[in-house]
Amino acid sequence: MSQENKIPFNRASVVGREYEYMALAVAQGHISGDGPFTMKCQEFLQRQVGVPKALLTTSCTHALDMMALLLDIKLGDEVILPSFTFVSTVNAFVLRGAKPVFADIRPDTLNLDDRILESLFTPKTRAIVAVHYAGVACRMDAIIESAGRYGIAVVEDNAHGLFAKYRGKPLGSFGCMAAQSFHETKNLTCGEGGALLINDDRLIERAEIIREKGTNRSRFFRGQVDKYTWVDLGSSFLPSDILAAYLLAQMEKAADIQAKRRSIWNFYYERLKEWAGSEKVALPFVPEGCEQPYHLFYLLLPSLQHRNEMIAHLQSRGVRSTFHYVPLHLSDMGRRFGWKDGDCPVTESTSDRLLRLPLYYSLSEQDLTRIVAAVREFRC
Ligand SMILES: Cc1ncc(COP(=O)(O)O)c(C=O)c1O
Repeated sequence: MSQENKIPFNRASVVGREYEYMALAVAQGHISGDGPFTMKCQEFLQRQVGVPKALLTTSCTHALDMMALLLDIKLGDEVILPSFTFVSTVNAFVLRGAKPVFADIRPDTLNLDDRILESLFTPKTRAIVAVHYAGVACRMDAIIESAGRYGIAVVEDNAHGLFAKYRGKPLGSFGCMAAQSFHETKNLTCGEGGALLINDDRLIERAEIIREKGTNRSRFFRGQVDKYTWVDLGSSFLPSDILAAYLLAQMEKAADIQAKRRSIWNFYYERLKEWAGSEKVALPFVPEGCEQPYHLFYLLLPSLQHRNEMIAHLQSRGVRSTFHYVPLHLSDMGRRFGWKDGDCPVTESTSDRLLRLPLYYSLSEQDLTRIVAAVREFRC
């Protein structure tokens, strides 16, 4: 099959004024961090999610690193998080000396299982990281209620969940902090990028310091101090304004992007549900009270073998599909912390059986028709 007939898993999108804004950033003479485009992106996020402060970062990984610093996570602390997540969710806390406590996931939403949460609490538990898989909300009411009773912090890894809601409230506004991603595969992107959303006013000033190499440079630029100096731990977590320029152009087209993704997601769902029912394949589940952001479309096949055969089958039809997270508790690092096979059975089974289909702005109806036809040829 020729290269142009192949449908990739993801394709970076240019949807509006990205090139114009990047050129403008250069012409304005401010291409380092915290320029005018960064400010506009941060205002968009504050408005969109309804949080007092958003700080753009170089990645969601770095926003998570900032979170762990802001929570003063230290050696011996325990942090609860799902095993079914990206490695950055755990690294941020382990870098500060924490021990990861992996929670299994719910079989319906593939989110941290709130029903077993309290059984994982110990006197050392410092934080719970709620990862909203595919941007479908964790049961935040139950999580916040349990954590609140024990004085444990709740933070959100909202890498997938911009524009999603739980009981009418935007994801990213539930925890004391949330991390967003603008990596190439996300609904809005600037290639590599992220944001830390801060929902607790007491954390804002220190977050600005940590993001600026541990200095009070932000206060200096606001004229609040007459020179800036090293005042805390930190690193360089702020992105160039050129990246923010790209991102702002995407933010301006958010309604378009979301409408397109919704129509792709619905196309898959409507045309695959009958096939899925007869082949014992599960499709994504969105519980009542959750508004999803149409970030991912996945199939849960009956077995690892079926999943791998489906990937190969789609590949033979020129369609790139892919698996998702490999359980963190069974990684080399997870095992070093004492985790073993069988500790998170739903995660292990889900990870083996899940396959993601292409979902991006430039997918055409012709592409979608081809993908759906190829999927439906497959028999389990
Ligand atoms: C749940 C989750 N958290 C964090 C990340 C890391 O995002 P980034 O690549 O922006 O650092 C990802 C990456 O896709 C992710 O899926």
